[in-house]
Amino acid sequence: MIGVTGATGQFGQIVIGLLKERMPADQIVALARDPAKAAALDLGVEVRPFDYNDPDQILAGLEGIDSLLLISGSDIGLREVQHRNVIFGAMEQNLGRIVYTSLLRANTSPLGLAQEHLATELILGESGIACTILRNGWYIENYVDTAISALAAGILAGAAGDGRISAAARADYAAAAVAVLTGEGHEGATYELSGDTAFTLADLAAELSKISGQQIGYRDMTEADYAEALADSGLAAPWPKVLARIDAQIAEGALYDEGTTLSTLIGRPTTPLGDVLAERLSWTA
Ligand SMILES: NC(=O)c1ccc[n+]([C@@H]2O[C@H](COP(=O)([O-])OP(=O)(O)OC[C@H]3O[C@@H](n4cnc5c(N)ncnc54)[C@H](OP(=O)(O)O)[C@@H]3O)[C@@H](O)[C@H]2O)c1
Repeated sequence: MIGVTGATGQFGQIVIGLLKERMPADQIVALARDPAKAAALDLGVEVRPFDYNDPDQILAGLEGIDSLLLISGSDIGLREVQHRNVIFGAMEQNLGRIVYTSLLRANTSPLGLAQEHLATELILGESGIACTILRNGWYIENYVDTAISALAAGILAGAAGDGRISAAARADYAAAAVAVLTGEGHEGATYELSGDTAFTLADLAAELSKISGQQIGYRDMTEADYAEALADSGLAAPWPKVLARIDAQIAEGALYDEGTTLSTLIGRPTTPLGDVLAERLSWTA
């Protein structure tokens, strides 16, 4: 029996859909913080309540589960405790295996987001449970809002310089998770996962121009100026500073990776940037 946490999230929904293509639906359990949301999504599998903050619910939710996909939560700053709750529940239930969605090079990444992922990896390492760590790079979808703003403004702004971003489609990372959950020989592995073709923000602007037929350039700004521009556009604190910092770290290579482990795991090239943008923005490529 495979359990999937965060089942009502975008990643979890894709995983459950793909798992259903590979195994009987009664072998899959959707673990959802909000079961009503899961019911509305009609996932087609058993749903159990599963809030990372609720150890009793976690223990009950993991009953009879052999393999667990622990999808990292979205409460930044609270995730180490939340993930620990899940891992301790898994230890109590003697789970056979946990697959965890971490962050690209979580052990050396300068990104602030890496800390909770690394802490979780360490707890997993000490749990005694067989684990596979999926260190996911950036989602291409992270740039959909940027793309929409760029199209409205006629220019894509950022502070990432010539930094290359090895992003991949969320669905490709989800397919890798499914390959690991349904495959063999992944125990103990830590996979650095990234898109086959890296791009700069200037490349992103060029891709947007191609897709939309509108000429979009890239304006590179200093980290401080970009943070100010984001705040002026109405983005609430702390996000302007957080996003500008991430761009500055991208400029230094924080999200660049040369590996092809993701395409190897999914058995095909990763989805190109333009395809993801065109689909998400409903344009004809
Ligand atoms: N690599 C990247 O570029 C990138 C980008 C964004 C996020 N991420 C990470 O990847 C994860 C999955 O991505 P996604 O696109 O699926 O994000 P998402 O759509 O925001 O889904 C997050 C899921 O986590 C669940 N969750 C949050 N807090 C929880 C809690 N306390 N207990 C139980 N479940 C909880 C949410 O439940 P609800 O449905 O009830 O809200 C949701 O199902 C994110 O949570 C985040 O850690 C990575």
